[in-house]
Amino acid sequence: MFSDTLLARLKKAYTVVVLTGAGISAASGVPTFRGENGLWKKFRPEKLANFYTFSQNPELVWEWYQWRRELIYKVKPNLAHYALVDFENIFPEFCLITQNIDNLHQEAGNKKIIELHGNIMRNKCSSCGKPYEGDFDLKNGIPKCSDCGELIRPDVVWFGEFLPQEAIQKAQEMAMASEVFFSIGTSAVVEPAASLPYIAKGNGAYIVEINIEKTPLTSSADEFLQGAADKILPELVIEINKLR
Ligand code: APR
Repeated sequence: MFSDTLLARLKKAYTVVVLTGAGISAASGVPTFRGENGLWKKFRPEKLANFYTFSQNPELVWEWYQWRRELIYKVKPNLAHYALVDFENIFPEFCLITQNIDNLHQEAGNKKIIELHGNIMRNKCSSCGKPYEGDFDLKNGIPKCSDCGELIRPDVVWFGEFLPQEAIQKAQEMAMASEVFFSIGTSAVVEPAASLPYIAKGNGAYIVEINIEKTPLTSSADEFLQGAADKILPELVIEINKLR
């Protein structure tokens, strides 16, 4: 399944970078966005995941994120998440860049994580940015900031919003430094994350894509491993451990 080139690269690799998307959490039961039963098939992102709707109808947006939180509380990391914890322990310099807000990489045990789109388990003031941990009981109304009195919102990046500057900058630096760059379970269409594999390739990295189907990145990838991440990644870890 794995080419000699990939195994040779991984045998001597120092810096390995992984970009993940919703597909890596599919085996845990978290719906993807654009897949068959994807969230965006049922809900309109421009109606829910943006600041304008939140300013007009915060109850609707909060209810939707509470629903997603409850869904995520019920699931556990899968073998693909745990395989990336092995990656972090194997490669001297490792970085996991995730578009996912489901906290499953963190729950599996990865530490070297860059969250590009925030984290659904966190909240912040929609005005002053003050962070708020934990859940809110919406029966008491939409929570307000104790500092500035403005509404509190989930600490996730909505459509039309900038990514955290520090996160995207660090992600681009790590992509440039990578020797092997994995793109796993992402449709590779949402920017600026979708540009990261090309930045890595432009700096000489070997690009590996793992996905159940082809994406716009596939033709530029050096290796396309078609299949479920929770099947392919544990097998790759076994091969890597034989080499190092
Ligand atoms: N293993 C590997 N890949 C999978 C699996 C699986 N078990 N199941 C689905 N996939 C692939 C799909 O083929 C698809 O290419 O995962 C990808 C999921 O794509 P999207 O649903 O578009 O999710 P993602 O790429 O993470 O979306 C990017 O868009 O909606 C915004 O902010 C949201 O972070 C998200 C961003």
